[in-house]
Amino acid sequence: MTDWKKSDWRSKPRVQMPDYTDAAALAAVEEKLGSYPPLVFAGEARRLRNHLADVSRGDAFLLQGGDCAESFAAFNADAIRDTFKVMLQMAVVLTFGAKVPVVKVGRMAGQFAKPRSAPTETVNGVELPSYRGDIINDLDFTPEARIPNPEKMLQAYTQAAGTLNLLRAFSTGGYADIHKVHGWTLGFTGAPEADKYRAMAEQISDTLDFMKAAGMREEAAHALETVEFYTSHEALLLEYEEALTRVDSTSGKWLAGSGHMVWIGDRTRQPDGAHVEFCSGVQNPIGLKAGPTMTSGHLKALMAKLNPDNEAGRLTLIARFGAGSVGEHLPRLIKAVEEEGAKVTWVCDPMHGNTIKSSTGYKTRPFDSVLREVREFFAVHNAEGTIPGGVHFEMTGADVTECTGGVRAVTDEDLSDRYHTACDPRLNASQSLELAFLVSEELSARRNKVQAAQSA
Ligand code: PEP
Ligand code: CO
Repeated sequence: MTDWKKSDWRSKPRVQMPDYTDAAALAAVEEKLGSYPPLVFAGEARRLRNHLADVSRGDAFLLQGGDCAESFAAFNADAIRDTFKVMLQMAVVLTFGAKVPVVKVGRMAGQFAKPRSAPTETVNGVELPSYRGDIINDLDFTPEARIPNPEKMLQAYTQAAGTLNLLRAFSTGGYADIHKVHGWTLGFTGAPEADKYRAMAEQISDTLDFMKAAGMREEAAHALETVEFYTSHEALLLEYEEALTRVDSTSGKWLAGSGHMVWIGDRTRQPDGAHVEFCSGVQNPIGLKAGPTMTSGHLKALMAKLNPDNEAGRLTLIARFGAGSVGEHLPRLIKAVEEEGAKVTWVCDPMHGNTIKSSTGYKTRPFDSVLREVREFFAVHNAEGTIPGGVHFEMTGADVTECTGGVRAVTDEDLSDRYHTACDPRLNASQSLELAFLVSEELSARRNKVQAAQSA
């Protein structure tokens, strides 16, 4: 064990964290949380790290997705089931294209704290502190609602535990059994992506029937009845993270017990800052967001700090530059990685660089920009000979109208219909599935190219 301590981040500069005014209330919450059980087990985090190592080599593909911000108000079984269900569908579609296993990681069961672009928000001439996620303050636009309240960490913990419990039940209790591939279809009929999915489900069912008839072994059949589903969130609120961090008795190493994978946001990735310090000491797989301001120098410093032993699967670089900007930024970061001989997993977040204001005043993301950024990400990796390992989406299984476009086109005027996000606009179920088909095409084209090159 190293001499790293889970409280070391406290002596480092911190950004994007609340100033709690009631120190005694904060200490009481930290003590209580510190006595609660962790939500995940170290063996699971190690298993996910091994899967992400496969992703880094192109032997698996990562699908990471979920809400921008989970909210206390939208906490219910249907919302969890629907997001889980659409991710299962997307994974089926991606497996078809990639012909490799899809590693499924939700932005779920802990994705509560939000970094913000401005510390305050002004509405009709009234200025108040920004909303920072339900684990910190409230979305209501009143001075009281915006005061950071440490008690909210306890409710977030309870919600995360309930969410993870249901996800585990769905994953292993029969819901995710591939034999039920038809049952995961979404409500709408006649939509092109839903019909395409049904046709694919048909093919899978036929294949399963064939394999059974041909004498597939019992254990092999059993393996298809469950899925592995992991959780992730941004490790932003470090008091919460520290309280749930424990020593894993098997390895003697520290584990952030709040989720399987945690990531560092684009606004909190200062190499000498509190967030990097915290993440450097826990054994979980770590994500690192990389936006347009990330230099190769920053990246090299961060890789040295976060993955000093150069373990595959430990560090996932989540590129989020914006459509039209990938070619300008990604090559220098790939070069930095190659120069260091670093083992990293490359993932594309086509959401956070593509947020715009609609003509009707809503924060939105055009489906075409999201798709374009994914395609640029693939094109750069194809040109560099490196591995485009996965995608990271803000999405929901619900039929919201938050991002524009898609085959069942959402227009600027439609945004007001079902705009429910607590923070950034999410792809709805139909847009998510459509995108999975389009990414799947990229994957299968890439696979054909690689195979052709190998046989030439
Ligand atoms: C997020 O993933 O919700 C987020 C805030 O991303 P980024 O740090 O990349 O802006
Ligand atoms: Co977001």
